[in-house]
Amino acid sequence: MSTKNTFIIILFLLSSSFACKQIEPSGPEEENILNGPIEELTSAERILHLKGDAAFAQSFNSETGLGPLFVATSCQSCHSSDGKGHPFTTLIRFGQWDSTGNHYIDKGAPQLQNRAIPGYLPEELPTGISYTKLIAPAVTGLGYIDAVSDADILNLADPNDANGDGISGVVNWISIPNYVIPRTDAIQNTNGKYIGRFGKKSAAYDLLMQTSLAYNQDMGIVSANEAIDTYTKLESEPEINLQTLFETVFYLRTLKVPPVRNADEKEVVEGKQLFMNAGCASCHKQELKTGNSSIEALSNKSFFPYTDMLLHDMGNGLDDGYTEGSAKTYEWRTPALWGLGLTPKSQGGNYFLMHDGRAKSIQEAILLHGGEATKSISNFSNLNDADRLKLLKFLENL
Ligand code: HEC
Ligand code: HEC
Repeated sequence: MSTKNTFIIILFLLSSSFACKQIEPSGPEEENILNGPIEELTSAERILHLKGDAAFAQSFNSETGLGPLFVATSCQSCHSSDGKGHPFTTLIRFGQWDSTGNHYIDKGAPQLQNRAIPGYLPEELPTGISYTKLIAPAVTGLGYIDAVSDADILNLADPNDANGDGISGVVNWISIPNYVIPRTDAIQNTNGKYIGRFGKKSAAYDLLMQTSLAYNQDMGIVSANEAIDTYTKLESEPEINLQTLFETVFYLRTLKVPPVRNADEKEVVEGKQLFMNAGCASCHKQELKTGNSSIEALSNKSFFPYTDMLLHDMGNGLDDGYTEGSAKTYEWRTPALWGLGLTPKSQGGNYFLMHDGRAKSIQEAILLHGGEATKSISNFSNLNDADRLKLLKFLENL
């Protein structure tokens, strides 16, 4: 090679490495990222987490089992970056799922599969039927929620409002599918029902049930444990094996808690006090504790999700006309508020809050509360401007 050519190559290499430095975006700050494993996992647990991460991201097509009817092609397409979903990917459920069963099973209920692989017709919403529209929640920190004991959840419930604060949280008593093994601390009611804890009305018992249903109803993927096709309603060959299913569940159990920001800033500290004074924490309970867990890092830990994991009457404005288990049409499980201020990062810079994403800001979400939250919301509305901004600032830093 001539010296001239060598010189040109060196010049090219230098300029391209310079150009890379210019273009390469700096990575997001650690404190701004939702996904990532909880600390203190063993190295074997980290490996499982990474495998589950890949399964969560896997996009299916008709060759790998997608459909024939489906809503989305991967878990991640709705739970983008493990954060909240976007209105483009809302789920629709219709009919009624209650003690008498779902009345529109023959029309494809409970979930509307509005997409189909070639050669099949997607479902359409039957007219004149009540339906609910749900936006995907964030999946971070769920291992902690999963590890709270049934007894602790039940202790928080106050179905008859015995303490007279106007707030009567209840649990959703549900039936569980055959493939779900009850937790070791399981509590059953006199009808043999179990306490649901995942989903916006707590209709899923555990992360395995939630995940199996998601594979099946959202993507048309039959998992080895469920083995019933949502399309044909018949037993079917599994399209993902148990190993993959368990890895996905393990991933969800071991996603870290969203990091709080600026917790010591004066306005944030004052905002938190105003949140407590307004009675928000009667439902958005700051601290919970886990019981024993097969994952050591999750055993007997305090954590700060800002939820009581209970269903509350949220008033007519939020009534979706849809029941699940013993949850009423106007009842919703208090959503955790951790990561609230980070949600625009997975929603294209916008907020889409409440069960269907109708609230475009935190303040709008607060003002939509009714039912049991009425008193607390009028406390919020009565704050002066400066205090209201402090309370919102506290929430933006969760
Ligand atoms: C079409 C969009 C969509 C897809 C695809 C999807 N989800 Fe979801 N996910 C949702 C919605 C909407 C909810 C709330 C459902 C409810 O309240 O019953 C939800 C709820 C959940 C929850 C409960 C979270 C909580 O706080 O209670 C978990 C866990 C979850 N999904 C995991 C998964 C996994 C794992 C997959 C892939 C196998 C998946 N999801 C695929 C939309 C989706
Ligand atoms: C009676 C229980 C209760 C009280 C009191 C309450 N909330 Fe809520 N909150 C809920 C429930 C349940 C939802 C979900 C409703 C839905 O999705 O339609 C919710 C949703 C929210 C959301 C939206 C979260 C999201 O991810 O979409 C915010 C923000 C919020 N609450 C803040 C507050 C603040 C601030 C207060 C006090 C001024 C408060 N809440 C008082 C039960 C309560």
